[in-house]
Amino acid sequence: MILYLHGTPNPRQREFFLSRARHTAYGGARGGGKSWAMRRKLVLLALNYPELNILLLRRTLPELRENHILPLQRELYGFATYNSTERVFNFPNKSRIKLGYCDTASDVYQYQGQEYAVIGMEEATHFTEEQQQFLTTCNRTSSLGFTPRMYYTCNPGNVGHAWVKRLFIDRDYRNDERAEDYAFIPARIWDNKALLNADPGYVRQLMTLPEDMRRAHLEGDWDVHAGQYFREFSRERHVTAPHEIPKWHKRFRSMDWGYNDPCCVLWHAVDTEGRVTTYRELYIRQTRAEEVAKRVIELSAGEDIAYTVASPDLWHNRGAALAVKGGFEGETIAEVFIKSGMPISPADNSRIAGWQRIRDYLAAAPDGEPRWHCFSDCVNLIRELPAMQYDVHNREDAKDGDDHAPEALRYGLMSRPLTAAPKSTIKRNSFDPLDMGVNRRGGYLLT
Ligand SMILES: Nc1ncnc2c1ncn2[C@@H]1O[C@H](COP(=O)(O)OP(=O)(O)OP(=O)(O)O)[C@@H](O)[C@H]1O
Ligand SMILES: [Mg+2]
Repeated sequence: MILYLHGTPNPRQREFFLSRARHTAYGGARGGGKSWAMRRKLVLLALNYPELNILLLRRTLPELRENHILPLQRELYGFATYNSTERVFNFPNKSRIKLGYCDTASDVYQYQGQEYAVIGMEEATHFTEEQQQFLTTCNRTSSLGFTPRMYYTCNPGNVGHAWVKRLFIDRDYRNDERAEDYAFIPARIWDNKALLNADPGYVRQLMTLPEDMRRAHLEGDWDVHAGQYFREFSRERHVTAPHEIPKWHKRFRSMDWGYNDPCCVLWHAVDTEGRVTTYRELYIRQTRAEEVAKRVIELSAGEDIAYTVASPDLWHNRGAALAVKGGFEGETIAEVFIKSGMPISPADNSRIAGWQRIRDYLAAAPDGEPRWHCFSDCVNLIRELPAMQYDVHNREDAKDGDDHAPEALRYGLMSRPLTAAPKSTIKRNSFDPLDMGVNRRGGYLLT
């Protein structure tokens, strides 16, 4: 018997089919053909490998029925038999595709002790990180010659936004996670000619969505979500590949100190037009002040650092240094840093003005280019800055949370008191001593 499957995969779908990573995600914009590719991939695997046990999941049963059970019943009619009680498609070669859902947090435990060589998670951002982690424990096989795999389709947003973004976009790995196990294929509506031809109005519909939703659903932008504090941040505009920074650019550092909370140190360079590039970050936990200073000095080798600004509370708490095993009774943490060869001065800690300063730097200068960039290897800053949320009690401020790198950035940019602008629109301060693009007070005057 021959099974006829309709449609030809577009280039992105082809990449998805060919991926051999342990975890492959196909995600981003709506309507790119992700669900189509997921169904096809699982059917092709079932046909190709005998006795393969496959699980296809959606968060809720009605979604599962609409999106997969009905289309698969149509596509596999007369070829695979469907057992509606078990919700399983049985193939002639004894492979099976089980369709499941995980509506409540505990639904996931129905898969405990089961073995699936392939797991497909549709709309993976609708699943919590705990659910995904539990499901990976069911992704195994005892048959030789097949490496277990998980496939994910997803759009930005929802409860699973953070873990999907961490694993597949930020590629920030922890413990035993290995970068080579994770592959991401960006989905674009423009790739899906089948949909564009059949329904040209669909793109127009996506274009009329409110800004946040349009960026998430049409452009597949993972850095936007409701309540986002820095909507101006755009990976495309603000993140650059690491490159050599000219020696004559002024360099400085900023630090948000933490011992149990992360400690973040950022290195910045100012170009001749007053634009700032954050070119390095150090992000560490439970490290004594002396040790942090040592690491910072090592990383700065050969660089001329003009100054370092740090959280002002480092000067407040006498005895705090002792508490983090970094100094003597009565000593402040600031003193430990200074004694360890890393001179620091207190940063301006005005929160709202500081966040506004970041906004000013994120904005485009008159020539259209932003005033601030950062290197792509500042992964914690790139993750935390767009994840910051508005404080519901004070709409001007950001909610406290994982904002150690943005705090360090805020301290750093608050030390650049005058807004930078391209040369054509600025007048140098008359007391600029070095003709280096940065005056003594570290900036330009806007005309
Ligand atoms: N290669 C293809 N050939 C023919 N039709 C396709 C192809 N890819 C996708 N389609 C069709 O395009 C439409 C949208 O595809 P699909 O539902 O897979 O998109 P999606 O990315 O999952 O969308 P959403 O983000 O809304 O979940 C569907 O009708 C699907 O059958
Ligand atoms: Mg879909």
